[in-house]
Amino acid sequence: MRLVPLLELRGLSVRLPAEPVPVHALRGLDLELLPGERLALVGESGSGKSTVLLAIAGLLPDEAEITGGRRFPALGREPTPGRDLGLVLQDPFASLDPVLSVGEQIGEVLVAHRGARWAEARRAAVVLLGRVGIAEPEARVDDPPHRFSGGQRQRIAIAMAIAAGPRLLLADEPTSALDTVVQAQILDLLDGLVREQGTALLLVTHDLAVASRIADRIAVLYAGRLVESGPAFRLLRSPRHPYTRALLAIARALEAGGGEPLAAIPGAPPEPGAELPGCSFAPRCPLASARCAEERPAWRGHPRDGVACHLVGS
Ligand SMILES: Nc1ncnc2c1ncn2[C@@H]1O[C@H](COP(=O)(O)OP(=O)(O)O)[C@@H](O)[C@H]1O
Ligand SMILES: [Mg+2]
Repeated sequence: MRLVPLLELRGLSVRLPAEPVPVHALRGLDLELLPGERLALVGESGSGKSTVLLAIAGLLPDEAEITGGRRFPALGREPTPGRDLGLVLQDPFASLDPVLSVGEQIGEVLVAHRGARWAEARRAAVVLLGRVGIAEPEARVDDPPHRFSGGQRQRIAIAMAIAAGPRLLLADEPTSALDTVVQAQILDLLDGLVREQGTALLLVTHDLAVASRIADRIAVLYAGRLVESGPAFRLLRSPRHPYTRALLAIARALEAGGGEPLAAIPGAPPEPGAELPGCSFAPRCPLASARCAEERPAWRGHPRDGVACHLVGS
């Protein structure tokens, strides 16, 4: 039997007003997430990753022009952010309110979305702080965010995001502001929590190494379009798109070199407003032919395991 997807994006396009020309941040994105599945969305800065998460959460600015569909078949209704969707952002210093205690902020989610009373919400906040690895949570629950380190704040932000028991956790580069050791701890924490609760995870990252630690499936975004997606083991072992191969080479070089400067991909992504007729990666692709610059490659293979590249056989 085919599983009913939790989330389905069909031909999602997003244009954001900007000067001198509007930014076409997403250009016809198809994406599916099954209940409990852990998908990493990978791409360079500016590829549209955050826009995907905001579109899913219904949090794009009012002036955004959105076309295409976003559905939640397994939920059967529009999701409520906070209750059905948990959101973890990159900056653990910006995502918490500086004047409220961490217990009040976690408790507020339970009061708003689970109809909890304040006394029980505070007790639940203590339990949640313990679950995300804050030591002596009873003693810390009334502390404000500035009494915690960056890594601890990200743990608290995760506690808020999972407090109401959402079906889907959206995490936007949740570890890129943290040092390497803390990064690994936070990824392990996220991994454990979503497995325990059966929560689906959509993790946005620019780093394939981060994706490989946690994802069942990886989707690679380039200039607002998917260029490849597939099961993590397949994509990491035999990447098909030249861009995926380049990202993988960077991740491997970083791992081997222990923090050497990025062996960056030569060139830059197209200007955010540019309309290229062919493959957006062609100008930077070491293998590109004339056809790549002229004709947009269609998606080949399965929707959940395929690639958009003229150079790859179906
Ligand atoms: N509110 C906005 N107004 C105009 N352009 C935006 C806005 N938000 C994002 N963009 C542009 O949309 C593109 C995709 O951005 P984003 O989704 O943030 O990428 P990523 O998260 O992969 O770095 C970028 O070119 C960015 O500059
Ligand atoms: Mg982003």
